[in-house]
Amino acid sequence: MKLLITGGCGFIGANFIRYLLNKYADYQIVNLDKLTYAGNLENLAGLEEESGGRYTFVRGDIRDATLIAELLGREIDVVVNFAAESHVDRSIEDASVFVRTNVEGTQVLLEAARKSGVGLYVQISTDEVYGSLGPSGAFSEKTPLDPRSPYSASKAAADLLVQAYAHTYGLPILITRCSNNYGPFQFPEKLIPLMLTNALEGLPLPVYGDGLNVRDWIYVGDHCRGVDLIIHHGKKGEVYNLGGASELTNLDLVGALLRELAIQKGHQPGYYDGLIKFVTDRLGHDRRYAMDFTKIQTELGWTPGYTLAQGMKETVAWYLQNEAWWRRIKTGEYLDYYQRMYAGR
Ligand code: NAD
Ligand code: TYD
Repeated sequence: MKLLITGGCGFIGANFIRYLLNKYADYQIVNLDKLTYAGNLENLAGLEEESGGRYTFVRGDIRDATLIAELLGREIDVVVNFAAESHVDRSIEDASVFVRTNVEGTQVLLEAARKSGVGLYVQISTDEVYGSLGPSGAFSEKTPLDPRSPYSASKAAADLLVQAYAHTYGLPILITRCSNNYGPFQFPEKLIPLMLTNALEGLPLPVYGDGLNVRDWIYVGDHCRGVDLIIHHGKKGEVYNLGGASELTNLDLVGALLRELAIQKGHQPGYYDGLIKFVTDRLGHDRRYAMDFTKIQTELGWTPGYTLAQGMKETVAWYLQNEAWWRRIKTGEYLDYYQRMYAGR
């Protein structure tokens, strides 16, 4: 199988490419990534040689129709679109790039997929398209879309375009909607890596509002396994929810994370707690997300394999072992690397 994976230098895309190359000895992957601030070549360093040429990187924008047409001309069987602007806080600052990449970019990919007659187009979406829940209940695939941040609105718009291309042109598609991922290679602007790396640097740990917003957390490896299963066995045209069955308030999550960090660093359990700082809430902050993933469980036999405790243990260990990786990001040094690498190209 030959796949075009977009956004593969980001957090989930990089984990997914590594997962596929390890699992399938004969799969070929073309990774198209623009290398925005969130894309990091280091996440896949050495893979071109290690994979014996099965992995190729192309720097480019999913909005570049000519480039996409050229790539899809390389006998691609499946397109998996991870490329996106993914951070809610940035979307509140400036929504325009979210519309350009998440909405227009998706449409360009869909159009190229339709024209090339690709076998399957997979859109990686999010639970955030469903909006926000009260204290009870969970999102199912039948929950009406009710996005409330510019980020989630752009992802919902993309999902609707994907469904429109399936309905109008018969494009074979699948959509996955997953809850909050965590694990190796997550950019340290997102809650878990931000808290971990700030704690290690002795910096304040900003908790928005009252800290009682609830998220469902899934280990990134479980998400990758689910996407793999959906690509191979999902029913074309369908949406599949994925969740971690780990619902926590932000405050409880940060508390558990700091305890794990303290243990692994050989400190007393409450060692980092004094760094927690309540800050002004995010505008329009969604109160609670929870996922009903019965459909993928019953149809495809998928359940999350990691408990939050195990996932956190491995994630904390990874950030401790890969300090140089996140320090280069936090200092902006990794951006200098791109400039050197791509000077004149
Ligand atoms: P990320 O921000 O870490 O990575 C995004 C990648 O896309 C980066 O490598 C970036 O360079 C690339 N990119 C951005 N704009 C591009 C463009 N115009 N053309 C080509 N490449 C471009 O994001 P992530 O956390 O890995 O999320 C990946 C996907 O999964 C996104 O679509 C996101 O909406 C979705 N998702 C994320 C989560 C989560 O918890 N992180 C949960 C559910 C769904
Ligand atoms: P985030 O990782 O940005 O994911 P999302 O907003 O897509 O769910 O944030 C997870 C939760 O943590 C969310 O409720 C916002 C909160 N949060 C903080 O309290 N402080 C922070 O510094 C960040 C980045 C997030």
